[in-house]
Amino acid sequence: MTTSRNRVEVMHGVNFDVLERRDPNIYGGLSLRELEVRIKRWARELGLEARFFQTNSEGEFCEHLHRLPELTDAAIINAGAWTHYSRAVADALEITGMPAVEVHLSDVESREEWRRLSVFEGIVLEKISGKGPDGYREALEVVARELGAGED
Ligand code: DQA
Repeated sequence: MTTSRNRVEVMHGVNFDVLERRDPNIYGGLSLRELEVRIKRWARELGLEARFFQTNSEGEFCEHLHRLPELTDAAIINAGAWTHYSRAVADALEITGMPAVEVHLSDVESREEWRRLSVFEGIVLEKISGKGPDGYREALEVVARELGAGED
């Protein structure tokens, strides 16, 4: 039996609509759709219900964050390049007041210096990077633990 608090919104930001066209050595060559199918399956295994959102518009991303409290119980966010400079997105996430995990497919710590900074520091429960798609599974586990999903 699952609790009523088991919903997670998986949000992708700028350039994730063309994930399959990005450098396969860095991002693995899979499409966002393929990634979402995997995430959906992992979520179900953990007693979570995943929903998805992607946009290339920073404003739309913020507006979707504003709606989150009506839609979901937790968030998993890969904001792409916005991660490194958008205080607007960080503020919008903070306003939700909900548990969130930050994920990056690539290892942002071992790439260019500017990718080390994350505007979500201090707001998210955890930052998971460099584990490819499996990082989302780890993020789902953090969310499931936080929400007590799958427990009676
Ligand atoms: C990314 C890392 C970011 O630095 C980059 O701008 C992205 C993708 C990742 O998933 O590895 O767009 O968030």
